[in-house]
Amino acid sequence: MDKKISIAIDGPAGAGKSTIARRLARELGYRYVDTGAIYRTVAYFFDLWGVAPKDIDGIRRYIDELTIGISYDENGVQHMIMNGMDVTEDIRTQEIGQKASIISAHAIVRDLLLDMQRETAEKYDVIMDGRDIGTVVLPKATVKIFLTASAEVRAQRRTEELQAKGQKADYQKILKEIQQRDYQDTHRDIAPLKMARDSVKLDTSDLDIDGVIAAMKDIIAKKVTPCV
Ligand code: DC
Repeated sequence: MDKKISIAIDGPAGAGKSTIARRLARELGYRYVDTGAIYRTVAYFFDLWGVAPKDIDGIRRYIDELTIGISYDENGVQHMIMNGMDVTEDIRTQEIGQKASIISAHAIVRDLLLDMQRETAEKYDVIMDGRDIGTVVLPKATVKIFLTASAEVRAQRRTEELQAKGQKADYQKILKEIQQRDYQDTHRDIAPLKMARDSVKLDTSDLDIDGVIAAMKDIIAKKVTPCV
């Protein structure tokens, strides 16, 4: 089998990873893998079972009841399938994001998801985003980019995103949640969010989406030819 191209994008919550990665994947013809959505699906499952994300005994007891599938529709959009149910929309709340951040610290959860992510990258050219893609999941990724922005800019973007969807959004509350998530994701013992040594850092605080896409294509073109 040909060696596949893999582009690893890591960074904190709300840095724009998924918006950017989805668009880049479409333009480059790669498969977009949103690994945060996989952790959110785990969090959603335990939420339905009434198991708190810190309750490791409850997680151990029920984890074998969980099956996770990933499918792609005709537009290349990733769908998360939990025990046969499409939960793609259900997992996209602030609350599930917060619970995913806590539940993802457990080794039993991370181990369960590691092979699934690696196998996808063996089969397809991928743009995979998350927290530990360049450091743990795909340490030999073709290109590694660390996408970041100040907490204030990320909170402002998330506020506008939620408002555009007609959801209630309080900037101060979102900023606090983002700071809390940054702390949890960077301070856990296993696979914490950190920049891989061979990663290129891109701060998007002062860039719009087109600016970020252009900068990323420049980074990718240095390692992958031809790049669009
Ligand atoms: O990217 P996101 O906000 O959808 O991710 C939700 C949580 O999942 C995030 O706060 C931490 C966890 N996560 C992780 O631990 N490792 C990944 N590769 C992706 C997400």
